[in-house]
Amino acid sequence: MASGRTPLPFLALGVLAFLLAVWAGLLRVGWPWPSPAAGLPAAHAVLMVSGFLGSLISLERAVGLRASWGYVAPVASVLGSFALLVPPVQFLAPVLLVFASGVGVALLVALLFVHRTPAVALMCAGMASWLVGNLVWAARFPALLAGDALLWWIGFPVLLIAGERVELARFRPTAISAGAALYGLAALFIVASVVGLVRPLPANHLAGAALAGIAVWLLLFDSARAQLGSAGLGRFIASALIPGYVWLGLGGVFLAAPLPLQGPYLNDAMLHAVFLGFVMSMILAHAPIVFPALLGRPIPFRRAFYGPLALLNASLILRVAGDLAVAQGLREWAGLLNAVALVGFLVVTMGSARSVRSGPPAPA
Ligand code: HEM
Repeated sequence: MASGRTPLPFLALGVLAFLLAVWAGLLRVGWPWPSPAAGLPAAHAVLMVSGFLGSLISLERAVGLRASWGYVAPVASVLGSFALLVPPVQFLAPVLLVFASGVGVALLVALLFVHRTPAVALMCAGMASWLVGNLVWAARFPALLAGDALLWWIGFPVLLIAGERVELARFRPTAISAGAALYGLAALFIVASVVGLVRPLPANHLAGAALAGIAVWLLLFDSARAQLGSAGLGRFIASALIPGYVWLGLGGVFLAAPLPLQGPYLNDAMLHAVFLGFVMSMILAHAPIVFPALLGRPIPFRRAFYGPLALLNASLILRVAGDLAVAQGLREWAGLLNAVALVGFLVVTMGSARSVRSGPPAPA
């Protein structure tokens, strides 16, 4: 980073937002536990999407670009989501969150000036999707739930990650027509998100089809399948990416499902197939590569990383089964196991970072 110091305090704020968001998720799924703030359960989506994802992604971008001005994005994003929990300053949340995502877009535009590629333009569209989602949400404030911001908030990590996978150049050379197919699917998703502001139902079908298409594209053209044959970190990354793409496809299918097939919890299954199954798998996959720059120290890969990854996938299967079977007890326990997997991932990452001082990692 520009100052030469690590952005650890910014990262710590994002982690705090993440832990609050996980607690909020557990309250939302039905655990009758105390809430540190009255608005916490309703703030789950904002804490996850802006407080955690938005701050982490904009911080990563600011560090990558060595742009100190970009640090206002993670700070405003976390403070905006915390403001929701403190009634006297709640009115600041929409302003701070829109501002944070605006700076996030500026960071991606700055990146586009450096790398003028369609993949970075796609990442830019992902960040812009966060901004539009926040504007839509702000227009409905003081309602706290996601509402019609949801498709935009889904587009934020999905378009950004798809663009990043292409840009990381970990792909086998693809035909121009294959590249065009990905950008076409992304455009379809954006059109669906716009339509969703006035006609939610056809928009969901369209957006679901686009998500499923993007998932199939990633399964076909990403290097993940080839990487499965490698060892150590390479194989771990592939083991996180491939199920992540399958979850994205499933999320798309749930979103596109015709009305008569939709049960009371299909929305929960769709949301968490995308956010827990796809987005969190991507974060797990890239943690040993991305987090060292944020933590200011290496994170050696350890086999222990497989533990949270396996638990995340197993508990998500249970959660989706509970959603589809309308089995509340199963949903609650699966939600709790989802949380254990996420916190377990934090513990393994921090343990691995600390081990750099205390001893060498086990052979991968
Ligand atoms: C421990 C893990 C989690 C639990 C127990 C949990 C629980 C829940 C529950 C019960 C709902 C309500 C669903 C509905 O009303 O249909 C919900 C909604 C939501 N969740 Fe999660 N969740 C978790 C993780 C995540 C993650 C990692 C993300 C994003 C990165 C996320 C994003 C969302 C969003 C965007 C909504 C929609 C909320 C709204 O309409 O306000 N969740 N979650």
